[in-house]
Amino acid sequence: MTIDLAALPEDFLWGTATSAYQIEGAVAEDGRSPSIWDTFSHTPGKIDNGDDGDLACDHYHRWREDIALMRQLGTNAYRLSIAWPRVVPGGDGPVNAKGLDFYDGLIDALLEAGITPSVTLYHWDLPQVLQGRGGWTVRETTQHFASYTAVVAERLGDRVKHWTTLNEPLCSAWIGHLEGRMAPGLTDLTAAVRASYHLLLGHGLATQAVRAAVPGAQVGIVNNLSSVEAATDRPEDVAAAHRLDGHTNRWWLDPVHGRGFPADMREVYGVELPELPGDLETMAQPLDWLGLNYYFPSTVADDPTGPAPHVRTVRRLGVPRTGMDWEVGADGIERLLLRLTDDYGARKLYVTENGSAYPDVVRPDGTVDDPERTEYLEQHLAACASAVRKGVPLAGYFAWSLLDNFEWAYGYDKRFGLVHVDYKTQKRTIKGSGHRYADIIRAHGGRGRSAA
Ligand code: FCB
Repeated sequence: MTIDLAALPEDFLWGTATSAYQIEGAVAEDGRSPSIWDTFSHTPGKIDNGDDGDLACDHYHRWREDIALMRQLGTNAYRLSIAWPRVVPGGDGPVNAKGLDFYDGLIDALLEAGITPSVTLYHWDLPQVLQGRGGWTVRETTQHFASYTAVVAERLGDRVKHWTTLNEPLCSAWIGHLEGRMAPGLTDLTAAVRASYHLLLGHGLATQAVRAAVPGAQVGIVNNLSSVEAATDRPEDVAAAHRLDGHTNRWWLDPVHGRGFPADMREVYGVELPELPGDLETMAQPLDWLGLNYYFPSTVADDPTGPAPHVRTVRRLGVPRTGMDWEVGADGIERLLLRLTDDYGARKLYVTENGSAYPDVVRPDGTVDDPERTEYLEQHLAACASAVRKGVPLAGYFAWSLLDNFEWAYGYDKRFGLVHVDYKTQKRTIKGSGHRYADIIRAHGGRGRSAA
């Protein structure tokens, strides 16, 4: 399909995204301590095929090659995350110089390659030692997060201006503490609500820490929001859709916008918040931008017997699905971008993740053809461009992911990369979708060309 790119700003960031635990490997090297994901992935039964992140894409040793791939794709930005257990292995206290050195070298090489680094401070890999002291369910973790943030910001802030505090706190809190499908693997509503509260408090404190250390810092938070529809117009289902909107969207957006926690959801959870005076102000630091991670739309119905928020997902028939069994629906990304602009007054937005998994194969001639991922990419980019034409201040798009990688509880079977990774040999191969992305980026950058 042809995408009209004319509305996208000239300095649009065209990026790819990854996260530390999903690609780095080298889990016991150079002073890194275990994170909650090391523990979780080594707990029998938690990860498909018994996979773990011990080696992953071996990016810790192959990062030069990976930057060369970014150059081949023509991207001008890269979203990476820092592993807290590499930098402050004890969770708080002494800094591990070797851990910081790794990121220092990576940032220099990115800049040399003309690629703007966008750094995420927390992409789920809490030092295990802090989990032992209560993890995100206790207030002390927020202080430790702020101290670790200050260390990273002071070291990298002369070169890194784009900062993200948290990636998808929803997953840390709801999936990690309520559904148990992610680390630390709890199924406890009280723990989950407390974790959600402390994550947002940590976000506020980390925002302050980055700003104190980095003149001209652009700080934001990344949420995976849901584009929610009710399965029917029965009042029960409409109310269920509103609850899922509260659970996945408003609970995360309202506090950082100075609106406090949504009253209806406080009632649904029925859990007392660990609130102290001043917390809500800390959570609501002015933000330079908001990040949206988007994968699929949701259609839901009332489910009074299920756990909070008492909804069940309804499968729509005749709709294409990815290898994750996630529905493909590009209009959802446009709706969410418009909502962030219209309802939350966002002045700058990034799509910080968007992509799809399919079971790719390397053909005998060594190429990887992935027409479905290519189509997904095109449809979502077209929806982003349409949102910009309607006035959305979208400043960049980061494809998830640069590489196939460790897809959390799904292990290595789910491949999201624009670049294929053969895990036996660590050979990288740019897929058809990667070549198409490069085309689109070139077309946008080329004089007089406004469509690809
Ligand atoms: C998001 C995560 C990212 C990746 C994609 C598929 O929820 O932020 O790490 O796993 O999903």
